[in-house]
Amino acid sequence: MSTTTKIGIGLAALGRPEYINIRENHAIDKSPVAFRENAFKVLDFAYAKGVRYFDTAPSYGKGERYLIDWKTDRKHSDVFLSTKWGYTYVANWELGYQGKHEVKEHSIEKLLEQWKESKLLLPELQIYQVHSATLDSGILKNEVVLSQLHWIKQVMGIQIGISTSGDNQNEIILEALNIKVDNDYLFDSFQVTYNILEQSTFEVLNVLKSKNKTIIIKEALANGRIFNKENKTVFPVLEGLSKKYKVGIDAIAIRFVMESLNPTYVLSGASDTNQLEQNLKALEPNLTFSASELKELKLLRTNPTAYWEERSKLSWD
Ligand SMILES: NC(=O)c1ccc[n+]([C@@H]2O[C@H](COP(=O)([O-])OP(=O)(O)OC[C@H]3O[C@@H](n4cnc5c(N)ncnc54)[C@H](OP(=O)(O)O)[C@@H]3O)[C@@H](O)[C@H]2O)c1
Repeated sequence: MSTTTKIGIGLAALGRPEYINIRENHAIDKSPVAFRENAFKVLDFAYAKGVRYFDTAPSYGKGERYLIDWKTDRKHSDVFLSTKWGYTYVANWELGYQGKHEVKEHSIEKLLEQWKESKLLLPELQIYQVHSATLDSGILKNEVVLSQLHWIKQVMGIQIGISTSGDNQNEIILEALNIKVDNDYLFDSFQVTYNILEQSTFEVLNVLKSKNKTIIIKEALANGRIFNKENKTVFPVLEGLSKKYKVGIDAIAIRFVMESLNPTYVLSGASDTNQLEQNLKALEPNLTFSASELKELKLLRTNPTAYWEERSKLSWD
């Protein structure tokens, strides 16, 4: 199946020493100096390989600062950046930090505070997103916050977006889709989880497509869960395709997102250049699924409630 989807890179794993992890071997230097060096290496490698879209957030440790410094230093005129507001990183680079590493606050005060730093990504900043919009945080009904976002959209000429997580992504997206400020639909862009295991947003994402919204897919590798050899339903199918197309399982999973949905972007969450190189193999010209292969992959979807329950139990290390 043909696809026009571009691969972007997210900085969630690049700006802080601990993130959601599946693999056991993590013998890496976790000092801030080594992290900054690695982040710049990954960003440069991505750019050299043709990646032009970069996504970050204030809660990705130093991830937003790294992107500001990188774009200011490298001066590429053709990059497309997005960031978010609403979560604060609180683990303070402490290894083995017990408790939540990110704290949510969807208030006007947090928006104004985080925008002060995030606007340093301008003029390449093209999308400003509510980080993990939920119904219970009240963000989608907070008129003061929505008006401020609309002001940013109008004055800065950028897209306003939301990111979503959890088993009620559909409900949140549909609610956000209808929000208007000054008779203008507020949200232009949607960063959503969709992957081989979690396909419950497929229909709503097609509604977004029909309305020409920007669609960014995150967690295409299900936070690494697609690599789980113990999964006797999913793993053999992915392994078979990986052998056939001579690419890794990660490339198969990213390609699935591209071919089944054709979103505007799919994010790589690579934590080093090696992973990014593997992820970018999703773009190899010989990798195109047959209709029956795509059908087989679609059948690997799991129950969204179970999927998100499992995600909430993944450890940060
Ligand atoms: N709520 C939100 O707004 C939200 C939430 C999540 C993500 N995001 C965005 O989406 C981006 C991508 O999401 P994500 O990183 O969470 O999820 P992901 O793409 O599903 O998983 C990324 C993880 O997969 C592993 N990986 C990647 N390539 C690999 C390879 N070739 N071999 C082995 N392991 C590999 C790495 O884990 P290890 O580091 O353990 O090796 C990496 O951290 C983020 O950077 C962020 O920009 C946004």
